[in-house]
Amino acid sequence: MKILVTGGLGFIGSHTVVALLEKDYEVIIIDNLSNTSIDVLEGITRITGKTPEFHQIDIRNKSALSRFFDEQPDIEGIIHFAAFKAVGESVEKPLDYYENNVAALVYLLKESCKLNQPKFIFSSSCTVYGQAEKLPITEDAPVQKANSPYGNTKQIDEEIIQDFINSGANLQAISLRYFNPIGAHPTALIGELPIGVPQNLVPFVAQTAARKREVLSVFGDDYPTEDGTCIRDYIHVMDLAEVHVIALEKLIEKDYSKPYDVFNVGTGKGNSVLDVVKTFEKVNNLKVPHKIVDRRPGDVTAAYADTTKVESVLGWKAQRTMADALKDAWRWEQKQQ
Ligand code: WQD
Repeated sequence: MKILVTGGLGFIGSHTVVALLEKDYEVIIIDNLSNTSIDVLEGITRITGKTPEFHQIDIRNKSALSRFFDEQPDIEGIIHFAAFKAVGESVEKPLDYYENNVAALVYLLKESCKLNQPKFIFSSSCTVYGQAEKLPITEDAPVQKANSPYGNTKQIDEEIIQDFINSGANLQAISLRYFNPIGAHPTALIGELPIGVPQNLVPFVAQTAARKREVLSVFGDDYPTEDGTCIRDYIHVMDLAEVHVIALEKLIEKDYSKPYDVFNVGTGKGNSVLDVVKTFEKVNNLKVPHKIVDRRPGDVTAAYADTTKVESVLGWKAQRTMADALKDAWRWEQKQQ
């Protein structure tokens, strides 16, 4: 079965490609390499012994995308990762985010009409909930006004997919609302490649441990939580990769007829920023210099998933712990120069 993975050389995309190849799917990757490196393809090959077909295509380029789909009529599934994902950057460059995360999705869905009953998995985010009233967060928690253009693009994308399906499109879709993906493949052959100063917590912690960063700034310890720092649901990227394959297989199942569904994907456990720092230090037997600074605008106090639906409908539960992910993240960081 031929599966297109857009953004397939990115952090979550590359780990999902590995999971697909290990289940003997035929994978085609398109990626514009704007936020990754072609070396990731070698990492995938070394892990799986297979080299997926790769095309350097920018999904904002309508004609290139159209030519690609004209040559690939037998694609049966699309897993769409290609998007910009930095919350802070989206505030500075909103039009880039609406073009790449929204307009390009429209082009992709239009091209999907050339396929026969394609299955579509969309990479969404718990950001759509903002600060949820109730924790843990279920899928019927209200989608709140986004705190950033990035979060808004994910909300708009989900609506575009639903409207497209409601219009009678021959496409079935599942949106996966990720919580906080962390870690790396245990071989350390692929992992998170933040370009420039990491925006996310775990890559910054790892680079501080590697003395690439002098000190980790903890953005606020005056939140209404046990230790005053924000709480998130940190999920191992390999667990996240595996649920994409399970979601795709659910869409392929004969007796599954739902045109569209949404799943929260997390571990169901919340950990604070200081929990992450302390666990990273403990499992890797090192120190991470850190200091408390002001809150980061836009941060929510706490977000962690209610995993009832993904467990009962997809039969999936995270297998790896945050400690596993922080060990893998450090092993990966030590491989970087
Ligand atoms: C986690 C916690 C920070 C950096 C975002 C997106 C989400 C997804 C993951 C794409 C927060 C604190 C962070 C630092 C810190 N993006 N922190 N010092 O903001 O929960 O989620 O990234 O898939 O959609 O919204 O993740 O890792 O940036 O922050 O104290 O140097 O760590 O304040 O509490 P976030 P994050």
